Order: sequence, then C-alpha cells, then structure tokens
Amino acid sequence: MISMTLAEVARAVGGRLDSVNDDQVTVTAPTAFDSRQVEAGGLFAALPGKRVDGHDFATAAMDNGAVAVLATRPTGTPAVIVDDVVTAMSDLAHDVATRYTGRVLAITGSAGKTSTKDLLTQILSRHGSVVATQRSFNNEIGFPHTVLRVQADTDFLVLEMGARGRGHISHLAAIARPQIGAVLGIGSAHIGEFGSREAIAVAKRELVEALDTSGIAVLNADDPLVAEMADHTRAQVLRFGTGPDADVRAEDITLDASARARFTLRHGDDAAPIALGVVGVHHLTNALAAAALALSAGVGFATVAEGLNDASLVSGSRMEVTERPDGVTVINDAFNASPESVEAALLSLATIAATLRPTVAVLGEMRELGDTAPALHQKIGRQVADLGIGTLITVGGHHAELMAAAARDAGSAQVTHVEAKDEVLELLTEGLRGRDVVLIKGANSAGLFETAAALAAGH
Ligand SMILES: Nc1ncnc2c1ncn2[C@@H]1O[C@H](COP(=O)(O)OP(=O)(O)OP(=O)(O)O)[C@@H](O)[C@H]1O
Ligand SMILES: [Mg+2]
Repeated sequence: MISMTLAEVARAVGGRLDSVNDDQVTVTAPTAFDSRQVEAGGLFAALPGKRVDGHDFATAAMDNGAVAVLATRPTGTPAVIVDDVVTAMSDLAHDVATRYTGRVLAITGSAGKTSTKDLLTQILSRHGSVVATQRSFNNEIGFPHTVLRVQADTDFLVLEMGARGRGHISHLAAIARPQIGAVLGIGSAHIGEFGSREAIAVAKRELVEALDTSGIAVLNADDPLVAEMADHTRAQVLRFGTGPDADVRAEDITLDASARARFTLRHGDDAAPIALGVVGVHHLTNALAAAALALSAGVGFATVAEGLNDASLVSGSRMEVTERPDGVTVINDAFNASPESVEAALLSLATIAATLRPTVAVLGEMRELGDTAPALHQKIGRQVADLGIGTLITVGGHHAELMAAAARDAGSAQVTHVEAKDEVLELLTEGLRGRDVVLIKGANSAGLFETAAALAAGH
C-alpha cells in the first residue's frame, strides 16, 4: 500500500482511533481480511462473516504484524473504529487512488474479464510494474482490496470490475477513477438479476460514463451493445475487433488444431503476426482487448505483440488443457458457465474435433439466468447437436435434463443425463479412449472443476 499514517487512515475513512498510542505510525502493507494473511505493517479489516466475526481475530492479526484493525467496535487492540468496514475499505481505497500517480486500467464485461486481465498483465509487465486484481476479486470487497495493494512506484493498476446491478460499476469507478476502461462484451451472465441484455449493457456502460475527457474508452466493435457505448463517454474511444471499423484489429484469423487463434494484429500502420498460446476461439476477443488496453496505456506495438505471443493461461479452470499420457485431452473450463462462454467452449471443442478426434462435452447447469434459464439451456442442447459433438453428458437437475432432451431432439445420439457429478467419473473412467477430447464446463457452484481435475489426473 502507499504508506499512510494511522491518523491519515482515520481521516480518510471518517473513523476514530481507539487504543492507539502513536497516530503517526505508518501503514505500509495491504489490508487483509484473514488474520492469517496479514503482512507486517498492514491493516486487518474485521469483517462480520456468516460463520465467524473478524473482530474475534483482532489479536491474532496484531500478532501477525498488523498495525491496527479496521473495526466497528473496540477490539482491545489498536483500531480505527468505523460504522461499516466495507464502506471504510472503499473510502480508504479512494484516498489511496487519489495519491496514486500511475495508470489505472479497468475491465468489465459479461465474460473474459479475468482472462483479459491476465493477458494484459503479462503485456504490461514487459513495460513496467503491475498490480492487478488477484483471481476474480472484482466486487465491493475485492475491488478496494486490490486498489489498496498499489505502491507509490507501481506503473499500472489493473482492475477487474464486476456488476450484479445498476450502480455497481459507477461505485467501483468512483473509488479508483480509472483513466482507461474497457468493455468486453454483453452476454447473459447474471441476466436473472438484470432482466435483459440491454439492462446489462446499461450497467456495464457506467465504466465509460465515468471516464473523463483525458481518458480512453476501449470498446468491442464486434458487439453492437458495446460499440454504441461510444455515444456515452466523454473519453476518446479506441475500438477493437475483427472488422474494418476497429482501430485495433485482427485479420487473417485462423484456429490451429488445438483451437488457438492465429491472426495478424493491426493498429494504424503497425502489423504483427500473433499465435496465442491460450485455447479457445473467444480468447481472440480478450487478446484484442488486452492489446488495445496496453496500447492505450502507452506500451509500444512491438511489446504488445511480443507479450501476446508469449502469454499463457494464468487463472485455472478456464480452457485449461491437459494432455494425458494415454492420449486423452481434458479441457477444464469449469470455473463458471454463462450461455456465451458455454457456446465459446463448445465451438473450441468442435474446432478440435475437426481434426477427427472424438469429442465429449460434460455440461453442468448454468446458474443465475432467471426466467430465461429453460430456453437458454435448451439452446445449448441444440448447439451441441448442431456442432456435431459426439457425446454429451449433462449434470444436475431439471435444467440439465432440458439441455439433454434438446440435444436428443436435435439429433444427438449419445446423450446421458446424470444428477450427481460423481457419476460423471464413473461413466468416463470406463468410456474414454485415447484421442478423445473431453470438455468439462458448468457453473462454479456445480463444482465440476473437481471432476475436471480428477479426469486430468487420469482417475
Ligand atoms: N470473450 C469471451 N467470450 C465468451 N466466453 C469467454 C470469453 N472469455 C472467457 N470466456 C469464458 O468464460 C468463462 C469465464 O472467463 P473469465 O474468468 O475470464 O471471465 P470473467 O468475466 O472474469 O468471469 P467472472 O464474472 O466470473 O469473474 C471461462 O469459461 C472462459 O473460458
Ligand atoms: Mg473474473
């Protein structure tokens, strides 16, 4: 964290100091929520959890080197007392962001935020120091936590922004005040909460609405709901995509036998051949977004191209490919599942199948789709049939059954529905042969990543 005295922390969060002897002691390390993860010189945020209350761990946090505790009541340790710890984290993050003089880049969209963030971080690291969101810490707690990790000499702060409703992104943007903001695409993730894709677009648009005239809005020219956000920002606009209207674009796109994109990256007069190491058609969009973001942050074109060519998958369970010694390929994409990401994963599987390898899709249910859930699951079932995926195994309750039935109706011959994920392993341990390609995908809560890990390990 950018160093602050306890007096400054208290002022930033509107709190009062309790049991503090010296208010000039500095906080130098980031804020932690888990007393076991406190770093020497850090703050410990005592969050009220469902099962445990952070206040009970104040002493443990101090023993681990915390300078003070951010709390709603005295803890018997040096503390900054506030009304609400989450709000205080936001206020503190805002104060730190105001002191920070490096570049702040933010990414939102329905799918691909973490993947893009990972690609971008790998590019930016060639040019300077980067602090980026860890995993998917993109909500009202994870976001300020990330901002608080920034150092005075950090060159780039890369932030993933998530939204489950209107006002969420503008809240996060107000905390960190990004100069560069990218919207990747508008899909159906969380449509149950939002109601429609248009409503999702309005919520994601808040990022570019928050940019000021000196900022850059990085927009997906291939997604009409994103492209039209150009009319809703004061910032300069940089478009990425595959058509002629994109400023940063991919041309001559092909997919190799492992569904990795190869293309020519173009920006103005610059051009470079790119061969992505990450698997999946959809990473083309993420790569273009990462390139446009990096170019907006002042990274040279050659560095961007080198960074993309060398980039690898950082966050697991996202099209994570394992080649087993027996010749079976396992694609673990079980981190989560929205209709668009299932479609993207199936397309990649079908691309790999074009090399005449038998394909198996293990699909768990998608969640948070509200009233549209039955129709969206049936659509996926039909896609499985249309793409010629050899075997479909659906896992879970009614929606998974609907997916299976739709695939059967659309002509898929080998469709099995199972209720519990454990049954998948039983089915596949006997059924897989060398050269089979297996995709495992489902909502995070379906827990299929465990199944994927077991399959990858050859169990
Ligand atoms: N551009 C894209 N279009 C469709 N699917 C994508 C895209 N990028 C990634 N995916 C897939 O979507 C899933 C989530 O990817 P990722 O974690 O990068 O997204 P995210 O936006 O960070 O998700 P979350 O909202 O859960 O944090 C993975 O299965 C991934 O393979
Ligand atoms: Mg994420």
